[in-house]
Parts: sequence; structure tokens; C-alpha cells
Amino acid sequence: MAESRSLRVAIPKGRLENKLFTYLRQAGMPVGQFDDTRQLTHTTSDGQFEYILAKPTDVPTFVAYRGADVGFTGLDTLREEEVDVIETFVLPLGHCHLALAGPPEWQGRSLHLSDKLRVATKYTRLASAYFTAHGINAEIIKLNGSVELAPLTGMADIILDLVETGNTLRANGLVELHQVMDSQLIVIVNRSSYRLRVECIDRFLQLLRPLSRNLESGPIGKGTMHGEQR
Ligand code: PRP
Repeated sequence: MAESRSLRVAIPKGRLENKLFTYLRQAGMPVGQFDDTRQLTHTTSDGQFEYILAKPTDVPTFVAYRGADVGFTGLDTLREEEVDVIETFVLPLGHCHLALAGPPEWQGRSLHLSDKLRVATKYTRLASAYFTAHGINAEIIKLNGSVELAPLTGMADIILDLVETGNTLRANGLVELHQVMDSQLIVIVNRSSYRLRVECIDRFLQLLRPLSRNLESGPIGKGTMHGEQR
């Protein structure tokens, strides 16, 4: 039997939140207003949608375990979290890339020649996959933020991190060494939700689709890492 409750939509808190809500309004979706800055859920007055604000890295988990029916996440986060969800299409939002970066003296230096490269990152799974694929011996050090501090403090040689404007790297005297993966925002759907609420979710996806494109069709592919076989 089809469910009648509000469709629960996971929104990544933080840098993309306002742009995403603006995009949803432009697509004709009811959005409404969170009454309080600490409020984490909000149901639109017509009861169609319940928005939940999640930490960006947790959006794939909320959707995979049906804490939300649908969600918006970066391809970088989705590939790192490796959860089982339906991947629909990308939106023209959140363009950035993952890159290896480090102090300028690392520019042009072969990473293969380093005895044991130390790499700090929030993306440990993607980092391991990248270094294994390239035959580079690296020790991965997990950080949860301010990753640029690692080479500045001597804790790691280089970092694998997200670059959007490049301002954070520049402000900390670091340079990009290699681009690893392009990313942008993608719409993901819980598998059971899709079975139980296909009409409702299809309507939701149709509203978002005009400015989007299929994940398979564009140059970004499935968030394939640069230099990796597709
Ligand atoms: C991300 C990323 C970089 C920065 C890149 O960090 O880890 O530090 O943004 O953006 P830019 O190229 O536009 O400068 P975030 O702001 O999410 O904070 P964090 O360091 O706490 O993870």
C-alpha cells in the first residue's frame, strides 16, 4: 500500500544549504522556513515535504537507512561513504573537485619516489583506492576538518581534499598537485522508498529534472577517479 506521510528530504547543512533551497524554490517546490537556527526538521505547510538538515557526510547514510526518502549529496561524499542507494541525476550545484595538494616543493615531485608518503584526508576510502590504483605506498591519516593544517604542522606530507574556489589552499600556502575526482550535487533515493512511493518520488524528481542531467551521460560519469579505468 502506498504511504501517505510527507516525503522526507535530506539536505546537507552548511555551504550548499541556502543555494539548494533557492534551487528548490525555483523548481517550484514548497520549501517554507526553518523557524530556529537550531531546528533540524521542517514540514511544509501543505504537508508534502519534510526537510531534514544533516551533516553533509551523513546524507548518504540517512538515505541508505531510510532516515530520509531522498537526499542531496556530493559525488565525492557518495563515493567515500559507499552506500546502497538509487543514484538519479546531478544538479548544476556544488561543483568542486578532489585534489592532492601540498607545499610548493612537492610540485613536480614523483609521489612514487617517496619512501612512505603521509597523506591526511577526510576521504580515507577514496585516498586508499587512488594510491593503490597508482601503485603508491602511502600512509593515510584520517582528519575530520581543517585538513590543510596537516602539512603545515609537519604531520603529513600532502593532503587529499576538496577544492572549490582554491582560497583555502592559497591562504595556507599550499598548491594543487593532482586532480583526483570531479564532484557536484547528486539526487539520491532510498530503494524501499522508491518501491513504496514511486509516484510521489517521480513527481519530486520531475520537478528537479529540467536543469539537471543524467549521471551516466555527462563527462563526470559516475564520479570516476581521474586515471581510473571506467
Ligand atoms: C572544505 C575543504 C577545504 C575547503 C575548500 O572545507 O575541506 O578546506 O572547503 O574550499 P575552497 O577551495 O573554496 O577554499 P570546509 O569548508 O567544508 O571545512 P572543514 O575544513 O571544517 O572540513
